[in-house]
Amino acid sequence: MKGTQHMDQFTPKTMGQQFGRRSWAEPWKIKMVEPLRMISREQRQKVLVEAGYNTFLLKSEDVYIDLLTDSGTGAMSDRQWAGMMLGDEAYAGSRNFYNLEAAIQTYYGYKYIVPTHQGRGAEHLLSQVVIQRGQFVPGNMYFTTTRLHQELAGGTFVDVIVDEAHDPQSLYPFKGNIDLDKLEALVQREGAQNIAYVSLAGTVNMAGGQPVSMANVKALRQWSNQYGIKVFLDATRMVENAFFIQEREAGYADKSIAEILCEFCSYTDGAWMSAKKDNLVNIGGWLAVNDPVLFEELRNLVIVFEGLHTYGGLAGRDMEAIAIGIAESVQDDHVRSRIGQVRYLGDLLSAWDIPMVLPVGGHAIFLDARRFYSHLPQDQFPAQTLAAELYLDSGIRSMERGIASAGRDPKTGDHYYPKLELTRLTIPRRVYTQAHMDVVAEAVRAIYEERERTHGLKMVYEPKYLRFFQARFEQL
Ligand SMILES: Cc1ncc(COP(=O)(O)O)c(C=O)c1O
Repeated sequence: MKGTQHMDQFTPKTMGQQFGRRSWAEPWKIKMVEPLRMISREQRQKVLVEAGYNTFLLKSEDVYIDLLTDSGTGAMSDRQWAGMMLGDEAYAGSRNFYNLEAAIQTYYGYKYIVPTHQGRGAEHLLSQVVIQRGQFVPGNMYFTTTRLHQELAGGTFVDVIVDEAHDPQSLYPFKGNIDLDKLEALVQREGAQNIAYVSLAGTVNMAGGQPVSMANVKALRQWSNQYGIKVFLDATRMVENAFFIQEREAGYADKSIAEILCEFCSYTDGAWMSAKKDNLVNIGGWLAVNDPVLFEELRNLVIVFEGLHTYGGLAGRDMEAIAIGIAESVQDDHVRSRIGQVRYLGDLLSAWDIPMVLPVGGHAIFLDARRFYSHLPQDQFPAQTLAAELYLDSGIRSMERGIASAGRDPKTGDHYYPKLELTRLTIPRRVYTQAHMDVVAEAVRAIYEERERTHGLKMVYEPKYLRFFQARFEQL
């Protein structure tokens, strides 16, 4: 496979695999540190009220351990920082663009590349070009920014993920899979010409970082070929998805992450990417397609919203860091330790019977706020409450992924009531140690013990778009 054979020499087995001892350790050592600050409980109470009980509105200097997101919060390597110094800040035709293009072609296998400032820039362009007003966009569970751009382009998102994804206790190994019967029913009901494309994400963020199997994407490709429907991939955490395929799917145990990634992408027509996750950078995104006609349109539109097609809103140095980050991200030992750390936290919490989404997914622990605060109805924002309580207890910042994130149905104006009401403890890549995970686990246990005395929240300010980012709450 193009560009992947040479990776093998860089992916030696871990000590655990060689000797049957510990299964993973971080494949790096720390060269620079950033001190953490801890404020008192009284100060946390004050800033939490000022932030309207919304963890997005806290100042980061008031946070002790920041598990808000894995987006743009990772640590870059010494190679990436060295690459930043090689930034070619030309307006047009920067050498760093060509390095980025080559990295995406090599590791993801797509032909044509459009850089964007971050993932939603790519979602915007793709939605505007590929969706016609009134069309449907089926996908394996919504994602906030993705669905909004699909709706702004006149599309209607339809959830066609397997039922197991909506059940936090189901141990199904590929809870990100698309249910092809649901997809077929949609086509029978609405007609293939009214389907813009299939919006496939690997892994599925809102379901708890759950993977899609290779068998599922292959079957999806066959299905979509009969109708001439395109499949576009949200590749934001596709490297992590490849790890689960390697671990769980027959026939992939001896394939490298790089090989699995490239094979998976080959069943899709293109991808959009928030490089701030898998690609190990603090800012950036891209769009990649195989169809030259579609590419022409995208590369023209990017100039309107992001910048010329050889920088798309990014500095040359940022593109260089992404190119290097892509090669680092597909190293087997990197992915193993990244997911190993998430699992370490998951195992601690499971041992204390803390309710959460199982199996533990790729990038985060998703606490099941419905069961955590079983006395709170969903319109008292249990997941938002949990995020606020965790901050108050220990200065740990997490994020709501429940009714506030789901927003409102643009047609009826009612809240969407998602089955999953989750609080996400998102682990940044290469940033925290196992000792930090111990502190987090103890804090979650402490608020779990106090759960029956916890009050819910009411929303007192609701912005029009993506309300969870800026909404304000008061305690009931
Ligand atoms: C699955 C998924 N898709 C798309 C995005 C949007 O990317 P960005 O935040 O870079 O705009 C994100 C990040 O929040 C994401 O998690």
